Amino acid sequence: MGTAINADAGYKILARNISRVFRSKRAGEKRKEFKAIDSINIQVRDGEFVTIVGPSGCGKSTFLDILAGLSDPTSGAIYIDGEKITGPSLDRGIVMQGYALFPWRTVRQNIEYGLEIKKVPKRERREVSARFIELVGLTGFEDHFPHELSGGMKQRVALARALAYDPEVLLMDEPFAAVDAQTREILQDELLSIWEKTGKTIVFITHSIEEAVFLADTVVVLSQGPCTVKAAVPVELPRPRRIRDTRNSIDFSRISGEVWNLLHGIEIPAVGTGLVPVYGGAANFEAEKRNLDSAAL
Ligand SMILES: Nc1ncnc2c1ncn2[C@@H]1O[C@H](COP(=O)(O)OP(=O)(O)OP(=O)(O)O)[C@@H](O)[C@H]1O
Ligand SMILES: [Mg+2]
Repeated sequence: MGTAINADAGYKILARNISRVFRSKRAGEKRKEFKAIDSINIQVRDGEFVTIVGPSGCGKSTFLDILAGLSDPTSGAIYIDGEKITGPSLDRGIVMQGYALFPWRTVRQNIEYGLEIKKVPKRERREVSARFIELVGLTGFEDHFPHELSGGMKQRVALARALAYDPEVLLMDEPFAAVDAQTREILQDELLSIWEKTGKTIVFITHSIEEAVFLADTVVVLSQGPCTVKAAVPVELPRPRRIRDTRNSIDFSRISGEVWNLLHGIEIPAVGTGLVPVYGGAANFEAEKRNLDSAAL
């Protein structure tokens, strides 16, 4: 039994019938099962920009973890270039929810981390990090530590770190959620211009409908948990897009309205139904480190 599946050949990423059940056992209680994801199917073309929206707690981060190879689905499989994935890889760069930078490393050292793991010689590391520091607009801040940076700058470092080891696929989990609205728009413009230059395949999770539509070729709308795909909405807006022009267009409003309607049909989960974020602060860079470290093996 081979790992490639011919009928779906040609896609960069294929997720087939992905389900995830969490099992927990607390002292004095019966074993509990909780289904977070129910049979997700998505396909992403090479170089496509796909955004994913869905209600809070519906299972987006859980799904991205599985795409990254950081955790296994309970059933189903992910294929990258037709090959079934079995663990993390430097072919997939991750930008987590929150910044997930290593606080003890400078901007340059954070960005060079994946390159060190890849055993890239120091001179080449310097060249690559300098290029990405310039690309994300952080020239002059090479030797700063994360605590000396603003939220938007930290997010740029996280992006540069993911780009620097040249993954073919970028997986981004609400990367701009923690920055102010103005910085967020600047980062969205910058991400699009980087994507245009590098041709990466991107899967990007967001809570913002406007962000999802502005960035994407396709917006995947997930249902309330256990989530499944409600719709995949094609975004046929001209490129290159820039916030100022695109957001004022009638088509932009129409597509945003369509996504809003799809999401609106979903009941917001009641408070106390287990909206526990997977990552936060320290857990974030632990997961990132785990990804980079195990990818090196
Ligand atoms: N390790 C875990 N063990 C048990 N339950 C978990 C675990 N990780 C996530 N969950 C549960 O799975 C569900 C989906 O969580 P997930 O973090 O994927 O949602 P999300 O869509 O990313 O939410 P948000 O939009 O708030 O980031 C939640 O109900 C959460 O409590
Ligand atoms: Mg999440």
